[in-house]
Amino acid sequence: MTTPLRLGIAGLGTVGIGVVKIVRRNAALLALRAGRTIEIVAVCARDKGKERGVSLASCAWEDDPVALARRSDIDVFVELMGGSDGPAKAATEAAIEAGKDVVTANKAMLAHHGQALAEAAEARGHVIRFEAAVAGGIPVMKALTESLAGNEITRVMGVMNGTCNYILTRMQNAGLPYEEVFEEARRLGYLEADPTLDVGGIDAGHKLALLASVAFGTRVSFDGVRIEGIERITIEDIRRAADMGFRIKLLGVARMTARGLEQRMSPCLVPASSPLGQLEGGTNMVVLEGDSVGQIVLRGPGAGEGPTASAVMSDIIDIARGTRLPTFGQPATTLKTARPARVSAPAPYYLRMKLQDKPGALARIATVLGEAGVSIDRMRQYGHEDTTAPVLIVTHKTTRDALDKALPGFSRTGVLAAPPVALRIETV
Ligand SMILES: NC(=O)c1ccc[n+]([C@@H]2O[C@H](COP(=O)([O-])OP(=O)(O)OC[C@H]3O[C@@H](n4cnc5c(N)ncnc54)[C@H](OP(=O)(O)O)[C@@H]3O)[C@@H](O)[C@H]2O)c1
Repeated sequence: MTTPLRLGIAGLGTVGIGVVKIVRRNAALLALRAGRTIEIVAVCARDKGKERGVSLASCAWEDDPVALARRSDIDVFVELMGGSDGPAKAATEAAIEAGKDVVTANKAMLAHHGQALAEAAEARGHVIRFEAAVAGGIPVMKALTESLAGNEITRVMGVMNGTCNYILTRMQNAGLPYEEVFEEARRLGYLEADPTLDVGGIDAGHKLALLASVAFGTRVSFDGVRIEGIERITIEDIRRAADMGFRIKLLGVARMTARGLEQRMSPCLVPASSPLGQLEGGTNMVVLEGDSVGQIVLRGPGAGEGPTASAVMSDIIDIARGTRLPTFGQPATTLKTARPARVSAPAPYYLRMKLQDKPGALARIATVLGEAGVSIDRMRQYGHEDTTAPVLIVTHKTTRDALDKALPGFSRTGVLAAPPVALRIETV
């Protein structure tokens, strides 16, 4: 009889309790698939008295996650508390020192400390697995590190924050302004305690940095992700984009170019008919492109108790089976430091402006763009609103840098009634 795999779970919130439920509900099939039983030996959370909907009477309780991580009767430390530093990092380090394997769903911790943690674990022959940290229930890490291991990855892309996708699609479908849908998302409990993590693109930026590391064999570089949130997207942008056959998505794109590693998380226009354009509500989508396989599209729930716990379990079962992959798909010491690409690959841009109703206003804007080397593909002026007129411009392929150079010039024309909005039109 093989020995059971013994878990210590730190964090009994949405994901932690989801894991407890799967281990209990599917015990028999897990044992068959893993070749050994999986047992929860000890748990830890802040409040021992909290009602959690499951019985934890058979598990030892620890108040301190570091003490849990060091227990001699656990094999795997399952970190489900969250936070980039603090208890999550301290306990993960303690687990590695104590010779445990680690499974975590914590993208913030890995985006900031993944390299050091992976090196420390691998130096001791242990693994850190994080399937649940990127796109929740979608098995994207497994796809990259196993199924597509024979490919040179050329691009990874994705909608990886369900809350932002919920907000953008709800604005689109109900014709509601950003502020109203944001409040609705808050009421429904979809937003993090600090909503800028969601709508500011930071949470999705963490996920993109992890994906890029595995895809391109580079050290995680969260600082190298150019991040822009969805806060400035208006219902007008959503409508104008739809008029032209596009949808607006908070899209992450990473690719290795001759200019260095490009990592962007920003609102982009994508064709309405594309799989990304058709993605509704809180669902996530990750697009992986490899030199042999072509394009793979993975779609599914990016968050929630069941889907996230399902991903955590896949890592636990791998460890139970003896599958021991390096954290980022290759030994952490072999990951290269990527040079961040200063300029993104050229693309057409959507520019929305509000101009003063003055003669020659549009011509002045066109002149500024021309001087910055940005040529116009399409331009449309909408009906006047009081003393201003909305204007929409679609440029030919250009760079964000060229546009950024043009923006101060717009202000000097004296015809802008509000700061312009510039969104990349992504080829997907
Ligand atoms: N929720 C999702 O859908 C989802 C999806 C993907 C990834 N994740 C990631 O999964 C992790 C957990 O998320 P969650 O949604 O399950 O969080 P959560 O519901 O807020 O639960 C956090 C748990 O950690 C415990 N905890 C916090 N600080 C602690 C400390 N200092 N000592 C001991 N326990 C502590 C809390 O204890 P109390 O219960 O006693 O307060 C709680 O049980 C995060 O890294 C998150 O980013 C979540």
